[in-house]
Amino acid sequence: MSNPEAITAIADFAEELALRAGELIKHEREQNTLRTDYKQQSELVTHADVMADEMITGAIRERFPNHRILSEETMPDLSQAEHLDTPLWIIDPIDGTVNYAYGHPQVAISIAYAEQGRVQAGVVHAPFSGETFRATRGTGAALNGNPIKHSGATLPRDSLFATGFPYTKDSLEPLVNRLEAMIHQCRDLRRIGSAALDICWVACGRLDIYYENVSPWDFAAARLIALEAGATAGHFSEVPAGYPADLWGRDILISAPAVWETVRDILRKASGYE
Ligand code: IPD
Ligand code: CA
Ligand code: CA
Ligand code: CA
Repeated sequence: MSNPEAITAIADFAEELALRAGELIKHEREQNTLRTDYKQQSELVTHADVMADEMITGAIRERFPNHRILSEETMPDLSQAEHLDTPLWIIDPIDGTVNYAYGHPQVAISIAYAEQGRVQAGVVHAPFSGETFRATRGTGAALNGNPIKHSGATLPRDSLFATGFPYTKDSLEPLVNRLEAMIHQCRDLRRIGSAALDICWVACGRLDIYYENVSPWDFAAARLIALEAGATAGHFSEVPAGYPADLWGRDILISAPAVWETVRDILRKASGYE
């Protein structure tokens, strides 16, 4: 395991890349010439997603040629997460592509760094709001350099929750059941459109609860940020034995600690897990 100084240097590098990617995607959107495409069925991708991915992964490869990379647009090989022997970078060049294409501000670049399947450093940069969330394991989480903490919510009925919906809409029933249960038992719902920002917003208390099924690049950095801000992060179904929990995206639940278990039970029941 790298020493704390080496992890700080890695977080500095990740932050530098996230800021550079932020400038790049802002510039591309300002040109009003965004080229969009469909990856599958209804998942949108723009040329800026690919440009930012190439820039970030290229810079990592140059500096750390022996590290592995898992990135949404150019290296989406999920089996990389199972190689615990080599350091792994997990990249989402634009989290919130639909927001990005529609001119909304809730867009982030997410960069995480893991050793032996555990995320050690995470940066989530939101270029349109000028906010950078950052954490290294064991040292707390910050927003633009200022320490952050979860909301301290104690009851679901006083909690604002966020979730998201998959691009493929073939099995909506469990999702709708969970939503119905949560809407009845919580204060209100937000569908912001960037999983990384949803989680960072739980970390800084703008939201109380987040749950979803997502990919490692959506949450790897933000999950560490939430944990370091004192939030509770886990899953409301079992993580397969041997798979790194830091990178398992199914049935993720991240919230203020005091509501976590109650919400887990609500989601398990609504999902038919018990
Ligand atoms: C998506 C966003 C969205 C979430 C989806 C993700 P993308 O990522 O994080 O909030 O609901 O599940 O796929 O495709 O914009 O990088
Ligand atoms: Ca995507
Ligand atoms: Ca994403
Ligand atoms: Ca993305």
